[in-house]
Amino acid sequence: MKVLVIGSGGREHAIVDALTRSPQVEKIFAAPGNAGMAAQAECVAIRETEIEKLAAFAKENGVELTVVGPEVALAAGVADCFKAEGLRIFGPSKAAARIESSKEFAKELMAKYNIPTAGFKAFTDYAEAKAYVESRPLPAVLKYDGLAAGKGVVIAQTMEEADEALKDMLLDTKFGQGKVVVEDFLTGPEFSFMGFVSGEKVWPMQLAQDHKRAYDGDKGPNTGGMGAYSPLPFVTKEDEEFALNEILKPVAAAMVKEGCPFEGVLYGGLMKTPDGVKVIEFNARFGDPETEVVLPRLKSDIVDIFCAVADHSDTELEWHDFMTLGVVLASKGYPGDYKKGVEIGGLNEVEGTLYHMGTKAEGEKIFTNGGRVLFVVGKGATLDEARRNALKDVERVQCDNLFHRTDIGHYVFDK
Ligand code: AMP
Ligand code: GLY
Repeated sequence: MKVLVIGSGGREHAIVDALTRSPQVEKIFAAPGNAGMAAQAECVAIRETEIEKLAAFAKENGVELTVVGPEVALAAGVADCFKAEGLRIFGPSKAAARIESSKEFAKELMAKYNIPTAGFKAFTDYAEAKAYVESRPLPAVLKYDGLAAGKGVVIAQTMEEADEALKDMLLDTKFGQGKVVVEDFLTGPEFSFMGFVSGEKVWPMQLAQDHKRAYDGDKGPNTGGMGAYSPLPFVTKEDEEFALNEILKPVAAAMVKEGCPFEGVLYGGLMKTPDGVKVIEFNARFGDPETEVVLPRLKSDIVDIFCAVADHSDTELEWHDFMTLGVVLASKGYPGDYKKGVEIGGLNEVEGTLYHMGTKAEGEKIFTNGGRVLFVVGKGATLDEARRNALKDVERVQCDNLFHRTDIGHYVFDK
């Protein structure tokens, strides 16, 4: 089978890597791909949002399965476009992807179907929003409604901060169209629960936890994610069953009832609060960097899963017992301004799994080409062993413009 992977980051590199383990795969294309994937896939110079070009490429090259990584492609309607052309694709329709692209859609769905989540109210009017926030306890959780790459959430500790954020979101149209969801503030450890979903069917993946802040001790600005590990010892079997039976499965069923059945990866960003597991957000795709630590643990043939979802057939998931912990190497300055084009050495010395997130090749040489640059995954019989292996590999990478967190997994190790 020829397979096309849409995307260019570490998540897509992990998907490509999982595909290489399938005996059914004859050839992998990646659009646009990256320097790391180029060893396993043929990179094709088509951007994620050029959906007609992607469909034409799939047709012309006999691609039998396309797997979508990034939300921008889903929100642009790549799945609808491929299906209209009779092409098999793994990823939700634009209507189903609203569970990620519209916070209000997601919150209303949860309210309607009694899915446990923080209480909320949506506003378009600045004065009304301000009055509501003033009437409630701090901190205030303010979420811009729309795709904002994780940047549209403000947890305001003071009324001044809340007011500034409301002005940004509703008056200055800093992020575009103005609408804001105000939520109750929840507390507890967060974790990511991804499931392969096809209509009402859900095949749960192993749990992972991301680390969103840039620096050690969960300090500094929010990022796309600085590291992850799997499994999660602090989430009990009961929590996991609750999350599957009271969150992922009912949401999948709700999407069917709402006339926008979900096909692809439903990602629950969950919190283990003192009142039980609750939803913080949904994504309509594989998490990044969670995918880079979860897929290496998948024992089953991933092609069987992608096809079962797309074809509405059946499959079973099996997992390895080993554990994984991965660390992001990011450009100094990220998530703010950073330099690109700095040479990276030592990549051949890395002993564990290495995924490229933002790199560029020139001849044999590899250069930095993004905020998040590389992802190193350590494996082990325990999380501690996985961590030691990952950190050893981090030291093998030679580049003077990269930084990383040294405390990935601290929630488990500091206990
Ligand atoms: P989101 O983009 O909705 O995942 O929000 C980004 C981050 O803000 C989450 O990962 C949480 O750490 C935090 N957050 C979002 N909603 C809440 C909430 N209701 N209570 C507490 N923290 C929240
Ligand atoms: N790791 C967070 C996300 O993929 O949205």
